[in-house]
Amino acid sequence: MVYLDNNASTKPAPEVVEAVCRVLAGPYGNPSSAHTPGKEAKAIIEEARFEVARLIGAVPEEIFFTSGGTESNNIAIFGAVGETGREKKHVIASLIEHPAITNPLEYLKKAGVAITYLPVDRNGLVNPEALKEALTENTVLVTIMHANNETGVLQPIRELASIARGKGVLFHTDAAQSVGKTPVNVERLGVDMLSLAGHKFHAPKGVGALYIRKCMQGKIKNRVLFGAGHERGMRPGTENTPGIAGLAMACRIAQGVEQTAEKTEHLRDFLLAFLKDAIAGIAVNGAGAVRLPNTLNVRIPGADASELVLALADSVAFSAGSACHEGGKSASKVLKAMGLTDDEAFCSVRISLSRYTTREELKEAVALLQKTVLQAGQGRSGQGSCP
Ligand SMILES: Cc1ncc(COP(=O)(O)O)c(C=O)c1O
Repeated sequence: MVYLDNNASTKPAPEVVEAVCRVLAGPYGNPSSAHTPGKEAKAIIEEARFEVARLIGAVPEEIFFTSGGTESNNIAIFGAVGETGREKKHVIASLIEHPAITNPLEYLKKAGVAITYLPVDRNGLVNPEALKEALTENTVLVTIMHANNETGVLQPIRELASIARGKGVLFHTDAAQSVGKTPVNVERLGVDMLSLAGHKFHAPKGVGALYIRKCMQGKIKNRVLFGAGHERGMRPGTENTPGIAGLAMACRIAQGVEQTAEKTEHLRDFLLAFLKDAIAGIAVNGAGAVRLPNTLNVRIPGADASELVLALADSVAFSAGSACHEGGKSASKVLKAMGLTDDEAFCSVRISLSRYTTREELKEAVALLQKTVLQAGQGRSGQGSCP
């Protein structure tokens, strides 16, 4: 099996597995307890907080552990918007956000909050001028993702955040896809809040963190979960100590993110060249933008991407630019927002690499893709054309 779906989830690093197992089999006290086993567990969490903070250029008190990207996004959004119904409130996002952003926003919309979704251009980029125009005196939050999960396109977060914060508006970024794959620094990005997800960079599933700038913490209150005062009241629930230890190890490994990025970028360039040699008419979605080094989203003329994913399900793991459901297929909202036609989206595939991917695996994957595309093309005699 060649695994090329690292934007969906990644293989836990061996060092991470070891760290998780060590904690799972070891200090099992409740980190909130005053006795020694509790203190041991607490020490693991505080060490981990230091590691997460170090990776993204924050200080430990700015890190709150959560169950992952979805929960971090929900806490950030509901926390920033606060009470709904009385005063008029407005939130700005982009049209290409993950459902972990758009679904909380759609919920708030029903509660009377105005939501503006900024468009993106053919390269998948938000125009900072559009943000300037969309801000109103009622805007309480701007949330724009750092890297897109489908195309890997990186938004100009520094510029966008400075526009919002210049007007006194909180700025959040969903960095679930970028942390661990490319350098991420909250000071350089200039954001107030940032979400990260462990399983996107070789930590276990079900653990992540929310960064909240120290001076903004007074403005944020968890309105999603209610419970005891864990994580200084920001995230109730006994901490997932083994998962957090795994996240810390993944962050320690990700200190070498520059080398990882360089390696995956070389591999991605090799993959694209190899694909172009094997299959005619390959085109990159988001080609004109700065993208995550590990992500390649390409159109394969004449291919049905979701059929390709199924045909190769036992040999190559990757994703399609469309989703199959009862009654048919729908094109990726992200690709549609970039102006692609349904046909272009239907023939688009996302291939995402990791620090563990090898050239040999890519060669094998391309050979299998080529064979399947050719076979399917003959079988479908010209159907599903992809310009
Ligand atoms: C951009 C983005 N945000 C949020 C999430 C959700 O993260 P999690 O699976 O940790 O809840 C994902 C996962 O696919 C994602 O790609």
